[in-house]
Amino acid sequence: MTDDPLGLLAIAEEAARRAGELVRASGPGRIAVEATKSSPTDVVTAADRAAEELLRAMLAQRRPEDGVLGEEEGWVAGTSGLTWVVDPIDGTVNYLYGIPAFAVSVAVVSGRPDVVGGWETVAGCVYDVPLGQAFTAARGRGAWLDGRPLSRAPREVPALDQALVATGFGYRSERRRAQARVLLHLLPRVRDVRRVGCSALDLCGVAAGRYDAYFERGLHTWDFAAAYLVATESGVTVTGGGGRPPSEELLVAARDPLARTLAAELLELGADAD
Ligand code: IPD
Ligand code: CA
Repeated sequence: MTDDPLGLLAIAEEAARRAGELVRASGPGRIAVEATKSSPTDVVTAADRAAEELLRAMLAQRRPEDGVLGEEEGWVAGTSGLTWVVDPIDGTVNYLYGIPAFAVSVAVVSGRPDVVGGWETVAGCVYDVPLGQAFTAARGRGAWLDGRPLSRAPREVPALDQALVATGFGYRSERRRAQARVLLHLLPRVRDVRRVGCSALDLCGVAAGRYDAYFERGLHTWDFAAAYLVATESGVTVTGGGGRPPSEELLVAARDPLARTLAAELLELGADAD
């Protein structure tokens, strides 16, 4: 079995595209909620479950020694030191309403996916289902959008007051109250804010230059494991702020020096706490 990042990327991309086609065929905007998770608005559809099943079946066949951590079915440890971290539909609420912003995220990580800073993404693919676009990255090899390299070339990075900043909110109301407080202070100090509803695409959007920055509190490993590598391989800094790795507490992504300014500002505003 290969451990070569490009070989692993080929599997990640095939898996994400296959799951994405299943999700597309299940008819966004015409589907029912099957269950709820952390709050009544945190939903699971049949397509989330079917897509994760497809991913698990394919990975079990191709990579039987690797572990799998998925949003719907949890973690099954492997023996190889590699774990596939998958989000079958990131942006489930958009999918439910037929808003064209959702993706399948497939990453393969080395190390301990249950330990903050204990893992590294080796390869990953975020497949934007409505647009049919694939963001891909392989550690040390680069990042691509539909096969075209995402440039690492230094570009002009705006100051905070000119930055278009993407963010997202959690599903629990206490968390949202805290997130609203942060925005109350931040929104008047930036160009504008976007809340599209798909964290994997938000993070890839910074890599592609669609946003200048992205931050969110409360992300799970499967939300960002693939997009994290797409961003860092494109020259974007992804941090938890204060020298910490990104985690459920906080993830901040931008090119430097904006990443430093925004992370410091967010910590000052208490964006890493409820
Ligand atoms: C959610 C989306 C959303 C973000 C939430 C995530 P899900 O993932 O990425 O944009 O704000 O934090 O939980 O539930 O659609 O897979
Ligand atoms: Ca998600």
